[in-house]
Amino acid sequence: MNPLIIANWKMNPVTLKEAERLFGTVKKEIEEVEGVEVVVCPPFAYLPKIISLAGDLAIGAQNCFYQEKGAYTGEVSPLMLKDLGCQYIIVGHSERRKYFQETDEGVNNKLKIVLKNLLKPILCIGEEARDAFNSSGRPVNEMSLVVGEQLAKDLNGISASRVVEITIAYEPIWAIGTGLPCLSDDAMKAVLFIRKTLTNLYNRSVAERVRILYGGSVTSQNVIDYVKGINMNGVLVGAASLNASEFAKIVKRAI
Ligand code: 13P
Repeated sequence: MNPLIIANWKMNPVTLKEAERLFGTVKKEIEEVEGVEVVVCPPFAYLPKIISLAGDLAIGAQNCFYQEKGAYTGEVSPLMLKDLGCQYIIVGHSERRKYFQETDEGVNNKLKIVLKNLLKPILCIGEEARDAFNSSGRPVNEMSLVVGEQLAKDLNGISASRVVEITIAYEPIWAIGTGLPCLSDDAMKAVLFIRKTLTNLYNRSVAERVRILYGGSVTSQNVIDYVKGINMNGVLVGAASLNASEFAKIVKRAI
């Protein structure tokens, strides 16, 4: 399976002109590259324009609502995103969980509506603290506690035949935007834990087929550690995806 490299522009850049320039440069730099799947997720406001420029490049949205239409002021329907030509939708990013109080139940509803409409969800999960302690001061394995609970709740009621369409992005919150990426050994432990949890929730074949990405301070320097070093299925890139040549390097080094 080709590595999957996803750019999450978050709420950047602030003009359509800059967005077009960034996308145009990325596209040009990776045009000839083969053996890798690239998805760019711009803000909603730029989607129609970027999709018109995309050619073979896949485009994703950073969020959607869990209803198809109706009186939901300010929200965006998965049907609208599909109609525009989006293929992927990021669901449950930690910034949505933190700033918009998204719950696992809401994330679960979004996954279901995205799958129903045959779009490809990218489910983000990950713990907040690297070194967590319980009330008696003992270290606890925060990753397995948080990730285990998120997987069980976020995937609740989703069948084995559909769950394989979900890409899971392990994004420890402490590694996002901090310049402190997760050590590849720890990312490896998270991947093994996610596959074990999927085996328990479904079965081994499902666990092996679900794509698992790493996200959190990914750069062209460390991408190899995840994609080659520990065989992850790709990376979800934030800040570094706003620099076209740095993002193009990430894409090329992942092959
Ligand atoms: P950074 O690459 O800026 O750490 O962001 C990661 C992320 O949140 C991608 O969704």
